[in-house]
Amino acid sequence: MTPPTRIDDALVHAARQGVDRLDAQLLLLHALGKTSENRSWLIAHDTDHLSPEAQQHFADLIAQRLEEVPVAYLLGHKAFFGLTLQVSPAVLIPRPDTETLVQWALDTMAARDHLEATRDASPPRVLDLGTGSGAIALALKQNLPHWQVVGVDHSVAALAQAARNADALGLPVQWLESDWLHAIKQEASPHTNAGPRRFDLIVSNPPYIRDADPHLAALRHEPITALTAGLDGLDDLRQIISQAATHLLPGAWLLLEHGYDQATAVAELLAQAGYDTITHRNDLAGITRCTGGCWRGQVG
Ligand SMILES: C[S@@+](CC[C@H](N)C(=O)[O-])C[C@H]1O[C@@H](n2cnc3c(N)ncnc32)[C@H](O)[C@@H]1O
Repeated sequence: MTPPTRIDDALVHAARQGVDRLDAQLLLLHALGKTSENRSWLIAHDTDHLSPEAQQHFADLIAQRLEEVPVAYLLGHKAFFGLTLQVSPAVLIPRPDTETLVQWALDTMAARDHLEATRDASPPRVLDLGTGSGAIALALKQNLPHWQVVGVDHSVAALAQAARNADALGLPVQWLESDWLHAIKQEASPHTNAGPRRFDLIVSNPPYIRDADPHLAALRHEPITALTAGLDGLDDLRQIISQAATHLLPGAWLLLEHGYDQATAVAELLAQAGYDTITHRNDLAGITRCTGGCWRGQVG
């Protein structure tokens, strides 16, 4: 069938195929080379005719949306904590829920700044494990620019995407390819003569979905290694909790995002590993989706 030529007809046609109205509007603006802020333009120009190229581009986007390709991948960007991040299928699309972890990290960083006022002049350091698009690391750097921010991922493609985002936003972050904290162990510490590099804060939104979770089908366009973590979904959280203590300064926090039903298990893992003051934070829907603990151990 020939795609509709008018803007209003094109949107009605997309709706009849089952595409959400807002999604269709955003995709049509994209096909027209306009930004997502121009929705009122669409309404004011609803009887305008589309060029054959725009018709075809919109039809292609709608076909992909019907295959459940996320809108963010089709547009190539996603808003996160006030930043616009470029995304591709190499990275998980940042979720609004993760803004809870960022806000908790910023609160913790502000409290740490207060303590640091009496310490030496070297900048405090935060590590984002499993950085993906760089969402958490970049939001932290944007809000507390004097902190040194390091973002780690085992995916080279994800790190390249994170670095492009950092360049586009003008935010200097150090990117490191590593299987969780393994590569960090090899770096010399600027604070001590030898030994592991230590941080004032470590944050992570790691994979935490169970391998057999039925919801995975709906996430099939996102990288599976960003999503699943073994039979109980805790494999990566276990590794991070056991490895992080070696890289935290005394009094520093490890803050973790996890699944809606994993708060108790994550708290137990933190307690077993020797963290204290174990605390939870709820996401925007009031569900406990972040858990953290303070490391009181001595620098080895
Ligand atoms: C749930 S995604 C989070 C992405 C991003 N931090 C966010 O919040 O949008 C998990 C990330 O962890 C990375 N990852 C998975 N296993 C890893 C490992 N063993 N070492 C380092 N990164 C890993 C994935 O590549 C992915 O980017």
